[in-house]
Amino acid sequence: MRIKTGIEGLDSIIEGGLLQGRQYLISGSPGSGKTTLGMQFLVEGAKEGEAGAYIALAESIDTIKQDMLRYAMNVDELEKKKKLFFIDLGPTINYGEYDEISSLITPEFQQSSSETPANAPPTPFSVFKEVEIQVKTYGIKRLVIDSLSAIRFTSLNPASEERSISRFIRNLKNLGCTTILLSELTKPDAYTIEQFASHGVIFLHNYMDKTGNMVRALQIIKMRGTKHDCDMRGIEFTYKGLKVLIPIKSKL
Ligand SMILES: Nc1ncnc2c1ncn2[C@@H]1O[C@H](COP(=O)(O)OP(=O)(O)OP(=O)(O)O)[C@@H](O)[C@H]1O
Ligand SMILES: [Mg+2]
Repeated sequence: MRIKTGIEGLDSIIEGGLLQGRQYLISGSPGSGKTTLGMQFLVEGAKEGEAGAYIALAESIDTIKQDMLRYAMNVDELEKKKKLFFIDLGPTINYGEYDEISSLITPEFQQSSSETPANAPPTPFSVFKEVEIQVKTYGIKRLVIDSLSAIRFTSLNPASEERSISRFIRNLKNLGCTTILLSELTKPDAYTIEQFASHGVIFLHNYMDKTGNMVRALQIIKMRGTKHDCDMRGIEFTYKGLKVLIPIKSKL
């Protein structure tokens, strides 16, 4: 079954929407619209009665909400109706005395390993466990994880890091939600394990062309079980959020 993303101009180019229960990766450059797209997807579900959760790992919930309140998405109202949830799983500790003391007494070469549980990036296990609880408690059907890049998959062994990422994505599938994983990749052709492990990959471009104009565009890189093209389509931000336009090349 397909579910609507709620993004004008997107559903029609992916046979009506995303496949329910699958995991999709939205990657893109800074400021390309990842958060906005993710929020529109949750809001669309919430309006139809499907509860959604925004899992913030890097940016604070307050900042995200403040930015999204600028759009006509009714984020506040849907949150009050318990159809939209904001869950902060980022590191919580503030800078304080400890940091100053530690920088005075810890040699520079050791400072990078002075992470404590409170300031370390979350692990795939801790994120998954928390998300699982929220999904079960609130009957969440749509999930946005912002971002995959903020989870600590690091391992000395690259193969085990890759296994850890695909295991995380596979485990999410077992939760039964339709999930959008945001990721901060800046090169669409730098194929990574999360692109292989996801059911679909959408890239958001945001770059300066030769004439100095900013190009904003959306491109479907992969969408399993779906007939689609790979054109770069212009995008614009309206009062409702992102809107997908016609392919850029056809305008030339
Ligand atoms: N109210 C608005 N109306 C139109 N455009 C806006 C509005 N608010 C933000 N924008 C545009 O949206 C961009 C940010 O979008 P968004 O936060 O979704 O991007 P992102 O990819 O999540 O960014 P980041 O990489 O920083 O997380 C801004 O840089 C700005 O260009
Ligand atoms: Mg963002």
